[in-house]
Amino acid sequence: MQTVKQLKELREAVDDLRQSGTIAMVPTMGALHEGHLTLVREAKRHAEHVTASIFINPTQFGPNEDLDAYPRQLAEDQRKLEAEGVALLWAPDVGSMYPDGFATRISVAGVSEGLCGASRPGHFDGVATVVCKLFNQLRPDVALFGEKDWQQLAVIRRMARDLDLTQPYVDRIIGVPTVREADGLAMSSRNAYLSPDERASAAQLNQAMLRSIAQIESGADVPASLGALERALLDAGFASVDYASLADADSLALLDSTPTRPARLLVAARIGGTRLIDNMSVEPPA
Ligand code: PAF
Repeated sequence: MQTVKQLKELREAVDDLRQSGTIAMVPTMGALHEGHLTLVREAKRHAEHVTASIFINPTQFGPNEDLDAYPRQLAEDQRKLEAEGVALLWAPDVGSMYPDGFATRISVAGVSEGLCGASRPGHFDGVATVVCKLFNQLRPDVALFGEKDWQQLAVIRRMARDLDLTQPYVDRIIGVPTVREADGLAMSSRNAYLSPDERASAAQLNQAMLRSIAQIESGADVPASLGALERALLDAGFASVDYASLADADSLALLDSTPTRPARLLVAARIGGTRLIDNMSVEPPA
């Protein structure tokens, strides 16, 4: 696996790869876990060459968020990607991604605004801007993202559609189902922050969501079910719940009654100092 840190080297490496086939990209911020490696494995089904990026993007972290604490383990990540057969790793530093004078920001209205966008102002502008740059830098035929960040995926697809991105075209932005630990906790680089007690309580997130989905799918009152979900999390030891919402799966418009189209239950909740997010599909009752 070739690791490149400068744009000129990246362009040369990508041109070389393109001679012998199509290119899939898995954008990441590193601290790779099984969820990321699942994206890499899935990527192999969509293109001849798999590339990845590791860039801890400062513009998507708020002033009081965990940018400094975010786990950095490039050598270990490189070993994992190499073992999965990744051909090329793009690992730019902050100065080459955002050189002096950098002044552009992509802001995707609507899908960016509620849910995580409400409690993390500017976060999705940071994501949209860096992902657009990553796409332009590498020009992949296909790009893969985890469905765990459902809102992020919606923002990226909206951006690709609105800006007429051709590489990857919006239909080639692929969401991959969330990979979970044995007790149901969604895999996340931030799970590393959890103490053993917090980790044990964190599994309740998945359990409480499954209960709520079963209720909603059998026609229960939606606000009552979401209220019960929130109380279950607080009882399980979560410090606060940013949101526990039912939304249209595509537009992310909030729903307060039984869905008639595919929907998503989305939750963000804090346990100790760690903010966990999760989402799952909710089918309209038959
Ligand atoms: O999901 C992530 O790891 C990041 O938000 C992404 C898409 C790599 C952009 O920095």
